[in-house]
Amino acid sequence: MATALHWLLLGSLSLMVSLERSVFWRGAFLIEGREFGWREWWKNTIIYQIYPRSFMDSDGDGIGDLKGITSRLEYFLDIGVGAIWLSPIYRSPFVDFGYDISNFTDIDPIFGTLDDFDELVDHAHDLGIRVILDFVPGYTSDQHPWFVESMKNRDYRNPYRDYFVWKDPKPGCVSSDPRECIPTNWISPFDGPTWTWDETRQQFYYHTFTKEQPDLNYLDPSVREEMKNVIEFWMKRWVDGLRVDAIAFIIEDHYMRDDPPNPNFQPSELATRVVHHSTLNIYSHNHPDHHEIVKSWRREVMEKYSAEPNYRFMMTEAYNKPAILVDYYGTDDDPEADFPLNFQFMDLHAKDLSGTAIFNLVDEWMHNVPDGKWPNWVVGNHDNYRIGYRWGMEYARAANVLCLLLPGTPTTYYGEELGMDHIKVTFEETQDPWGKNNPCCWEKYSRDPERSPMQWNMEKNAGFSTAEKTWLPVHDNYKMGVNVESEQKDPTSVLSLYKALARIRMQRPAFHTNAMDYGIVTDDIFSFIRRPNPDESEQPSYLVAIHLGKKSIVIGDYVNALLANGVTIDSSEGVVEISSRMDRNGETVNLEALELRLGEALVVGIGKDSLLKTEL
Ligand code: BGC
Repeated sequence: MATALHWLLLGSLSLMVSLERSVFWRGAFLIEGREFGWREWWKNTIIYQIYPRSFMDSDGDGIGDLKGITSRLEYFLDIGVGAIWLSPIYRSPFVDFGYDISNFTDIDPIFGTLDDFDELVDHAHDLGIRVILDFVPGYTSDQHPWFVESMKNRDYRNPYRDYFVWKDPKPGCVSSDPRECIPTNWISPFDGPTWTWDETRQQFYYHTFTKEQPDLNYLDPSVREEMKNVIEFWMKRWVDGLRVDAIAFIIEDHYMRDDPPNPNFQPSELATRVVHHSTLNIYSHNHPDHHEIVKSWRREVMEKYSAEPNYRFMMTEAYNKPAILVDYYGTDDDPEADFPLNFQFMDLHAKDLSGTAIFNLVDEWMHNVPDGKWPNWVVGNHDNYRIGYRWGMEYARAANVLCLLLPGTPTTYYGEELGMDHIKVTFEETQDPWGKNNPCCWEKYSRDPERSPMQWNMEKNAGFSTAEKTWLPVHDNYKMGVNVESEQKDPTSVLSLYKALARIRMQRPAFHTNAMDYGIVTDDIFSFIRRPNPDESEQPSYLVAIHLGKKSIVIGDYVNALLANGVTIDSSEGVVEISSRMDRNGETVNLEALELRLGEALVVGIGKDSLLKTEL
């Protein structure tokens, strides 16, 4: 059984032997439960996504920065988060808010310096918190020196000549204007064209996203080497893992074939631009060769820097069906990511939300995860509307219960633990290029509403910044108690719920497996049971029952529903360990007629002595 002392010893032992820095868990959470191996630290924690512009501003310019994050690291110990993932902090002109990178190995001055970064990592590691960086391998900024050089000419003596995807006008095109002879019909996920004509080279260059983000050419071996060096640079600075961005777009069809039209595409009356889903993106995206590249990052770089107790973790970002995504796990002999991020919940909106809908999404994921691999769950990020907006605020608590208690690793987008809501941003205030470039329907595209500043307290700008104006407006509801300080004091707040969930998933072996059984699944209810491994059968099991329907109250017989799924429970009585409204904790309930209120989730301990001895 791992104890804090055990980890402490591990840490200091390796310090003595190799004089290397090591990471050990000092938080109060790893008290009981299964011992995860040193290569598995990412299984028993929550990964918390920080959007650095919006987390904490230390210098009063209205934009968050690294020193700001460092000043708030203790918060993670308090809420039970063991790993933070930082969205891009590299040098950037910020056309796409840091996903357009002009130097992969330096920090943008808006966020601070490399010294500030080292300080952040050191302090995080002292607290036992791991640091994961966003790695953006597919494209650079058009201001990156590689692109500036590449644009100059196609002379074979130019070492950067082939660093980007340059193409001549489409062969056979009859127009006298070469700019009309676009190489392929590929459409950007941001909608609109993916090729831009360059007068100097008299060629097109390819950009999956904005024209300021030229795609790197992975057919050039030098590009592959450069990007491995980038990973190595950050591994040497003691980064614990990577979130690999937009991985499905890094290689395109070598024969430059057009994507076929999507027969199921329904044009929306709002869209005035060429829409991504109007074609089936079979040649532009998901080229199978990119798996080889991910494997090489794992094998040749990440493994080299994975020595006990510092395993370097990798998760990948791609929006695909689970059956395709699971390929990112790689094979046992040649692994890729520890997991591909699971976005099953992202496309679900209030009108379709139901117990059955959640079951279908969960079950599809669980069925596709290969044996022995570890699942994961995401309910929000910087690219999608906040969960309260998508599902309805009355289900925001339930979303945290799902995300933290389903088998696997949860990712929390900053503010989800508080129930932070969308902000309204006018077109004039809009920052996101996806919104700005679509004046017709910017509200449909803009991702600003989910990127508003973190709400810390009741002070000016919710304690995020002392500036007169923050880069995006702060949501007004911080004055009504939606902020860390107020929620810390309120035992019924979303934050108190979150902490209770974080604690139970860390402490109880029932939540340390990658398995579950379903209970009642109807349009109103989604429920499941988590049980410890057989060798820990003296430990309690938990029923998690969630009301995702529209009725004010639903009553269910969980004993018989579980029985029908082959799970027998000893007693029809259980004890509510956590209720999502935090007002029924400790209540003894009858599992044959368990009542749930609208949007309510209950975590019910089953078996003797199930109630946690600690205060939740
Ligand atoms: C990031 C987005 C970004 C896009 C293009 C994505 O995968 O998550 O925020 O806009 O890449 O750069």
